[in-house]
Amino acid sequence: MPPKVAIVMVGLPARGKSFIARKIARYLTWLGRNTRLVNAGDYRRSLLGAQQTHEFFRPDNVEGRAARLAVATAALDDLFGWLRAGGEVAIYDASNTTRARRDLVRQRCAQAGAMLLFVEAICTNDADVETTIRESKVSSPDYAHLPTEDAVQDFRKRIAHYTSTYEPVGEDEGSYIKYIDKGEKLLCRGVELDPKLGRYLLNLRGIRKSTWLTRHGESLWNIRNLLGGDSDLSPAGEAFALRLADLVDQRDAMRDLVVWTSALKRTVQTARGIAREQRTFHELDEINAGICEGMSYAEIRDKLPTEADARARDKFRYRYPHGESYQDVIERLVPVVLAYEREMRPLLVVGHQAVLRAFYAYLTGIAPERCPYLGIPLHTVIELAPRAYDYSEERIALG
Ligand code: F6P
Repeated sequence: MPPKVAIVMVGLPARGKSFIARKIARYLTWLGRNTRLVNAGDYRRSLLGAQQTHEFFRPDNVEGRAARLAVATAALDDLFGWLRAGGEVAIYDASNTTRARRDLVRQRCAQAGAMLLFVEAICTNDADVETTIRESKVSSPDYAHLPTEDAVQDFRKRIAHYTSTYEPVGEDEGSYIKYIDKGEKLLCRGVELDPKLGRYLLNLRGIRKSTWLTRHGESLWNIRNLLGGDSDLSPAGEAFALRLADLVDQRDAMRDLVVWTSALKRTVQTARGIAREQRTFHELDEINAGICEGMSYAEIRDKLPTEADARARDKFRYRYPHGESYQDVIERLVPVVLAYEREMRPLLVVGHQAVLRAFYAYLTGIAPERCPYLGIPLHTVIELAPRAYDYSEERIALG
C-alpha cells in the first residue's frame, strides 16, 4: 500500500490555489489513485449559504471567525475521515494562511497517519491577481447577487483581511512546495513523494492555454480497417492535412501554436504542412495491439475469439498479448502530460484514437475507465478553450 498523502493548499485568495488543487486531483484520478479534493468555500456555502460580504472574513469579526473554524472543522472531519477509511490522497483546498490553522491540519494528518505536503501559491504580480478575480471570483455563487464591479471591490477587501493575518509557510513547518508567479519559480523543502506525483508537482505551471486535439488524416490501413501499423496517409487523409494547415493559418488563436505528433508516419504526414514548431513524441504512438497489429476487428473475432471476448469484458484493463492496454497507455503518457503542463504556448496534438482518448480524459477529468469508449472521430479537430478551472469544447469537422 502506498503511503497516504495529504496535500494542503496555502495562500491568499485569488492566487490560483483551486486551479492547482484541481489539476493535481485530476492527474491522480487519471492515474487510478484514490483521490479526494475538498474545497473549503464549497463547505462554507453549503453550511452557511453563499453571499457573505467581506465583513464575514474580517479577523476581528468574532462570530465570523468561529463560523470559519466550524466550516474548516467540518471539511477536515470529512476529508480525513475518508483518508482513514481507505483513501489514498487527500487534497484540502482552503486558504490555511495562519500557522494556527495549519497546526490544526497537521494534527488531523498525524491522526490519519498521512504524509503532509503544503502547496503554497504566491503571486507577486498584482495584474495576475486582478485577472483571477475578474475571471473566476466574480462569477462565484458568493457574488451571484452583485454587479461585477461591486463584487470586485468586495473581493479585494476580502483579500486585504486575509493579508493582515497571513503567515507564509515557515521552514519549521515540514514539507512544502511554493509556487511563485504561476510556477515561474518554485521553492521546495523536504518533498518525499512518489516520483510520479513529485515530478508532476515540479512540472506544473498555473498556465491556462488553448489546446487542440486531432487524429491523423485517414491512413491506408484505416481504409482496410486494420489495427496499428505505420502506414501512409490515403488521398482523403492528405486532403485533411491540407485543411488542417489552412485552419491553423486562419486562426488568430493558433498564431503561437506548437504542434506535437507521434513518431508514426500518419501523424507526421498530417502535420507536415503546418508552418509552426513541431515536436515528436514516441509516447504519443498508437496503442500497441501486440499480436493483433495488422488485423481487422473481424479477423480478431474470427481467429482469436477469446482475446476478443476478454477485450469486450474489460476494454480498459485488457492488454493485447505482447501489446498494451488503455491503462498502459495512460502510464506511458505521463511524460507527455508533464511536458504539457510545462508548455506555455497553445498546442495542437496530432495523435491516434486510443492515445487521444487517454489524453482527453486527463484534460477533461473523465474517469479513466470510460476513456476506451470516447468518440474521437477522424477528420475532426477538438478545440479546448480554457475556462477558470476547465475547458469549453468545440468540435470542428474538417471534411
Ligand atoms: O483503428 C484505428 C486505431 O487507431 C487502431 O490502430 C487502434 O488499435 C484502435 O484504433 C484503438 O481503438 P479501440 O481501442 O477502440 O480498438
